[in-house]
Amino acid sequence: MTDRFAGRRIAVTGAAGGIGAAICASLLDEGARVHALDVKGLEVLPAAVDTVEVDLTSEESVVAAVRRLYATDDTPIDLVTCAGIVENDVAAEDMPMSLYDAVMGVNLRGVFMTCREFGRELLVRGGGAIVNVASMSGNAVVNHPQRQSVYNTSKAGVSALTRSLAVEWGPRGVRVNAVSPGYVDTPLNALKKHMHDKWLGETVLGRFGTLREISAAVQYLLSEEAAFCCGTELLIDGGFSLR
Ligand SMILES: NC(=O)c1ccc[n+]([C@@H]2O[C@H](COP(=O)([O-])OP(=O)(O)OC[C@H]3O[C@@H](n4cnc5c(N)ncnc54)[C@H](O)[C@@H]3O)[C@@H](O)[C@H]2O)c1
Repeated sequence: MTDRFAGRRIAVTGAAGGIGAAICASLLDEGARVHALDVKGLEVLPAAVDTVEVDLTSEESVVAAVRRLYATDDTPIDLVTCAGIVENDVAAEDMPMSLYDAVMGVNLRGVFMTCREFGRELLVRGGGAIVNVASMSGNAVVNHPQRQSVYNTSKAGVSALTRSLAVEWGPRGVRVNAVSPGYVDTPLNALKKHMHDKWLGETVLGRFGTLREISAAVQYLLSEEAAFCCGTELLIDGGFSLR
C-alpha cells in the first residue's frame, strides 16, 4: 500500500474483466478511490471499490453513471477505459454486420462516449488524466492465425482517438494516453487456448504479459511522473511486434 494516488478518484471500465479488475485492485492499493464500471461481474471486486453497473453501448447508461458519480462529490474523476470484446476468429468475408456493430459498439463507440462524458467533466474542473487500453492489434501487428479484422480496426480507432483527444484537451489540462498490451492470459482469450503456444512462440520474451505489468503502465500514465505524456501509446508486448 502506498499513497501515490491518495485523494484521487479514478473510474475504470471493463472493471470486472481480467485486466480491468487488476487495474482496480492496484489503484486501490496505491490509495485511489476507485469507481468500477462494468456491465456484469462486478461482485469479483474488493468491497472497498465502488461498483457501478453500466452498459457502454448505451448512451443513456453512460450519461447516468457519470451523473451518479458526481451527484454527491465534485472531486474530478480520472478515467481508464478497459472494456473490450473481440470476435472469435471470423473471416472478414463472412462477418455479419451485427457482429461488426457489437465489437465497434463497445471498443470504439463505447470508448468515445466514455471519454466524452468523463472528459467534459474533467475539462470544467481544471483537468485530469485519461488512459485508454488499446492494443498492439491496432497498429503494431495483424494478429494471426485468428481472424479479427473488426477488433483490430476498433483498436486502431482507439489509438487515433487517444491522439486526437490529447491534442484537443491537452492544452486544457486533460492528458490522454494509451497502453497497448500484447497477449495477456484473460477471459478475452479463453476461446483461443489452442493458439496460445503459437502466440507465445512468436513473442520474443516467450510468455504472456502479466496483469501487474499492464497495471503498472496504466498507473504510470495516470501519475504525475507522466505529466509530459500527451497522446503517448505505451506498447507492452514482450517484443511480439518485433518479429
Ligand atoms: N487480454 C489480452 O491479451 C489483451 C491484449 C491487448 C488488449 N487487450 C484489451 O484490454 C482490455 C481488457 O481486456 P481483458 O483481457 O481484461 O478482457 P476481459 O474479457 O477479461 O474483460 C473485458 C471486460 O469488458 C466488459 N464489457 C464488455 N462489454 C461491455 C459493455 N457493453 N459495457 C461495459 N462493460 C463491458 C466485460 O464485461 C469484461 O468484464 C480490452 O479493451 C482488450 O481489448 C487485451
